[in-house]
Amino acid sequence: MAVLDLFGRPLRDLRISVTDRCNFRCTYCMPKEVYGRDHRFLDRKELLSFEEITRVARTFVELGTRKLRITGGEPLVRRDVEHLIEQLATLGVELTLTTNASLLAAKAQGLADAGLSRITVSLDALDDATFRRLNDVDFPVARVLEGIDAAAAAGLPVKVNAVVKRGVNDDQIVPMASFFRERGQTLRFIEYMDVGTTNGWRLDDVVPAAEIVATLDAAFGVEPVDAGYRGEVAQRWRYRDGAGEVGVITSVTQPFCGDCTRARLSAEGKLFTCLFAVRGSDLRALLRGGATDGELQDAVRAIWSGRSDRYSELRSAATTGLDKVEMSYIGG
Ligand SMILES: C[S@@+](CC[C@H](N)C(=O)[O-])C[C@H]1O[C@@H](n2cnc3c(N)ncnc32)[C@H](O)[C@@H]1O
Ligand code: SF4
Repeated sequence: MAVLDLFGRPLRDLRISVTDRCNFRCTYCMPKEVYGRDHRFLDRKELLSFEEITRVARTFVELGTRKLRITGGEPLVRRDVEHLIEQLATLGVELTLTTNASLLAAKAQGLADAGLSRITVSLDALDDATFRRLNDVDFPVARVLEGIDAAAAAGLPVKVNAVVKRGVNDDQIVPMASFFRERGQTLRFIEYMDVGTTNGWRLDDVVPAAEIVATLDAAFGVEPVDAGYRGEVAQRWRYRDGAGEVGVITSVTQPFCGDCTRARLSAEGKLFTCLFAVRGSDLRALLRGGATDGELQDAVRAIWSGRSDRYSELRSAATTGLDKVEMSYIGG
């Protein structure tokens, strides 16, 4: 039976982080100074097993969840992640994955065969030097594009997400839009967000979506498209010449908490009801403590029905000092 939170928002989406590790060190997400040699990542035994993840996901589906997204960290660095996809595919809901695509060329076919519905690739620049600087491990754009091609060849619909940081990659907005519209792949630009505490976020670094749209409009001509469904995070725009769509995700300048239907499960089994939450609820303790399916469902229902988070709408001096969790931990 579907469950609503205190603002009437249904529990429509679950993002599942399968690892807190990543082979990139994107400067806005896992800066090297913090995620260097001394950083303590979760041990393998601390991670939820595939069986545990599937059990949690099944509970969510029973409570009305219609979309599962696998994320991280970098989900493709978790060994045998295809086996998890296979198990989750049996739940019969939309199943997607967000990846930096570094390992995608080799894994795309296996993911498609395992039952993945679609895939989102993060790519913040087409200019190779800019991209290598941003991922901070000298990874080339060409290999990400190979991954995207392999996913498309395996029959997976691909969306591309680009975080825009002022003075770093805002010169990539037009070249990226031009490239992906010619290929018929949807690109979404994401406002740089104040998640976590390690990236040194400043409002001045954010390029507001309105500015991104104005840039796109000047270059190509764009007009708005209506939202496809409640809780859709991207504002959609269509090219006036009919060459497809482009999106912007306005999490900073026009927060969409009122429609937020997403829960997040960390790799160690903590459930967060907001990207900006400070604490999660420990589902792993329930799973490993022998909770029955009914008890697990009651726990999730109680957490969601008591939810009143709307951090982005309240973003203010009062919240900036909070000890927020990191995107790479909670799952972007
Ligand atoms: C945390 S990553 C995890 C999945 C995978 N490693 C990837 O990069 O696609 C998920 C998404 O979060 C985005 N992200 C990370 N830090 C962000 C920030 N501070 N503001 C906006 N988006 C961010 C990334 O660009 C990526 O698209
Ligand atoms: S955005 Fe994704 S690829 Fe980049 S550091 Fe974060 S988790 Fe890794």
